[in-house]
Amino acid sequence: MQQITTRDPAQFAALRARLAGDPHRPRYHFLPPANWMNDPNGTIQLGGTYHLFYQHFPDAPQWGPMHWGHATSTDLVHWDDLPIALAPTPGGPDTDGCWSGCAVDNNGVPTFVYSGNRAYPQPDGTTKRVQSTCIATSDDGMRTWHKSAANPVIPGPPEELDTVQYRDPAVWREGDEWLCVTGSGIAGVGGTVLLNRSRDLVRWDYLGELFTGDVNSRDPIWTGPMWECPQFFALDGTHVLVISVWDSGTKYVAYYTGDYANYRFAPRTLARLDAGDSFYAPQAIADDQGRRVMWGWLRERRDRDAQTAAGWSGVMSLPRILTVAPDGTLRYAPAPELETLRGAHTHIPERDLLTETVVLPGIVGEYTELRAEFGAGEAQSFGLLLRRSPDGAEETRLDYEPTSGRLTLDRSRSGPAAANGSIGATGAGSAAISTFVGDTLPLAAGEPLVLRVFLDGSVIEVFANERLCISERIYPSRPDSTGVAVFAAGGDATLYSLDCWQMGSIW
Ligand code: FRU
Repeated sequence: MQQITTRDPAQFAALRARLAGDPHRPRYHFLPPANWMNDPNGTIQLGGTYHLFYQHFPDAPQWGPMHWGHATSTDLVHWDDLPIALAPTPGGPDTDGCWSGCAVDNNGVPTFVYSGNRAYPQPDGTTKRVQSTCIATSDDGMRTWHKSAANPVIPGPPEELDTVQYRDPAVWREGDEWLCVTGSGIAGVGGTVLLNRSRDLVRWDYLGELFTGDVNSRDPIWTGPMWECPQFFALDGTHVLVISVWDSGTKYVAYYTGDYANYRFAPRTLARLDAGDSFYAPQAIADDQGRRVMWGWLRERRDRDAQTAAGWSGVMSLPRILTVAPDGTLRYAPAPELETLRGAHTHIPERDLLTETVVLPGIVGEYTELRAEFGAGEAQSFGLLLRRSPDGAEETRLDYEPTSGRLTLDRSRSGPAAANGSIGATGAGSAAISTFVGDTLPLAAGEPLVLRVFLDGSVIEVFANERLCISERIYPSRPDSTGVAVFAAGGDATLYSLDCWQMGSIW
C-alpha cells in the first residue's frame, strides 16, 4: 500500500472509502480514516456533543510521534472526523509525542491536560525519556488548540520518589480545586497513581500517592510494576480506580472499587476489567444522562507487516455503560443507542441441544449483533461457534463450562496462525500469544447464561450477563467464515433463544 497520511481533512472521506472493502475493517466501531490509533484521549461531552480524541500517528499504520486525532458524535453511534487536534512541537516538552491525557471544561474554556514526551539520546546509545504534564486550550469550540507558554505545568514526578515512567494525567473537579492523577510506578514496590492539585490548571502542588499497588502480589490478580492511563471517579456510591497494567509483554486493564477520603483511596475490590487481551487504556466519562460511558483501545493481534499492508491499525471499543453492583464489582452494558444500528433480524426459538453442534441456517455473523440465552443441563460445556466456515476448519469458539463457571474465547482456529500474533503499544516487539482468553462467571442456580456478542470484521466484543466482557481481535481468512452455530458437549443444554441483527455501518 502506498504511504497515505491523515493530515488533510479534505481526504478523510476518500481514505475511509478506500479502506472500506477490507473485510477485517470494522464498520460500526470507531477508527480513524487510516493509519495508527491507540488510546482514547480527552473524551468529553460538551453542549450535547461527544468528543473523542485519540492517540494517532497520521503518517503510517504504526506507532510513531503521537498526535491527537479528533471525532465528534451527537448520538454516541455515528462519528464525524475533525482535523488533528494536537501535534508535537519541535523543541517543546512534547517534541517526541503528545501522549495520553484528558479534557476538562475550565469555566467554559476547554482544556487538555496531557503527557508531553521528549526523548534525549544518551552518549551510551540509550534514550532518556522525559515525561511531563502539559496543557492546551481551545477558543473555537475545540477545533484548534493552543499550547500554554507555561508548559510543562508539571515537569515530572517528585524527585524523592524512585519512579518508573510518569504519564497520562486524568483531572477532575472537587470543590474549588482541580485534582489530577498521573500513572506511574515506584521501583520495586508497584504501580501507583500520583495526585496533584491546582486552582488554575497551571500551578500544581503534589499531594502524594492516591494509591500504590504491590508488584509482588497476585492476590487476586497481578497489577504489575507500572500503571498507565488511570481513571478515578465516583459511581453508585463508591469510588472506582481503573488502571492499565503495563510491563514489557503485558497489557491489560484492572479496576479497584473502594473508599476515597483525604486524598487517599482505600480499595476493597480488585478485578480484571476485560478478560480479552485486546482492550486497553480506557477512558470513562460522565455524560449528560448521568451515565458513566467507557471506551477502550482494541489493539491489533496481527503482526506489524499485516498492519502495514492493511493501512490501518487500532479500533475503539463500543461505548460501554458502567455501573457498580452491591458487591462492589463493575457491570457493563453496551450503550443502548447502538440498537439504532440493528437491521434485518432473525429469531431462533427455544430448542434442546443434545451433545450436538447445530449450525443456524441463514444466520450470517460478520457485522452482526447476537443475543443468545442458554440454560445449563448436564453438558460439560456449551456455547457459540462464531465466524465459522461451512466445514468448521475456521471458527472462534465461545465456550461455557458450568462446573468451573469458566467462559472462554478460543481463537486458536479463528484464522491462520500467523494472524494470531500481537504487538505492543509502542510496536516494540511481540507480546505473548494467547489464543485462549476468559474468566470465571459463576451463575446462580437457574440463572441463564446471556451472551451479547458484537461481531464487526476483525472485532469480537462479548458481554456475558453484564458481568464479564471479553474483547478480542480475530482475522478469519476465508470469505465463507461467517457461519454461527450453537453447541452442547458431553451432555445436554438448552438454547432458550437466539436473536441476530445485521448491523448498519456508522460511516
Ligand atoms: C498507553 C500508552 C500511554 C501513553 C500512550 C502513548 O497505551 O502507552 O501510557 O501515553 O500510550 O501513545
